[in-house]
Amino acid sequence: MNMDEVRAKCESCRKCALCETRHNCVFGTGCESAKLMFVGEAPGEQEDLSGIPFVGRAGKLLDAYLTAVGIERDEVYIANILKCRPPKNRDPLPEEQDACMPYLRDQVRIIRPRFIVCLGRIAAMRLIKPDYKISQEHGVWVKRGEFEMTAFFHPSALLRDPCKKGDMLTDMKTLAAKLNEI
Ligand code: URA
Repeated sequence: MNMDEVRAKCESCRKCALCETRHNCVFGTGCESAKLMFVGEAPGEQEDLSGIPFVGRAGKLLDAYLTAVGIERDEVYIANILKCRPPKNRDPLPEEQDACMPYLRDQVRIIRPRFIVCLGRIAAMRLIKPDYKISQEHGVWVKRGEFEMTAFFHPSALLRDPCKKGDMLTDMKTLAAKLNEI
């Protein structure tokens, strides 16, 4: 399947109850040959309304970090573990993640990025390891097959706790340097 076919399948998905409450499926955006992929948790309100990931307050903050380190948003690919918004932004349930993961796997298979950065604990626990400790392990890169992976603080966590912003900038600068090396 190509990306348009995966997107079409995702947009008509009814594998979990979130399809009942979504306004839009938030499939993912960006460059299909991106070297870098960001994976967040799940769409929030603005994303659900627009169908585009990371466009709300957290997304604006992510954009600011990308700009600060010289990465263009349209040179990367941005997606989430869940493609539909959980009610009141609650944490994704394990069964929702299980239902939705095949779409993300297809996206990764098609894009074949060199770097995958999980945004926040939920994505890191799903993609890196179940006991991931974001406070201790953010910015630590691990090699997984053909990918290098890490997790950064979720931009929403930075909005709640601005003390984390210095660490985020350091992690983003390391990422930009890695991208510039290839
Ligand atoms: N938070 C996420 O994890 N993903 C989005 O797309 C928006 C907010």
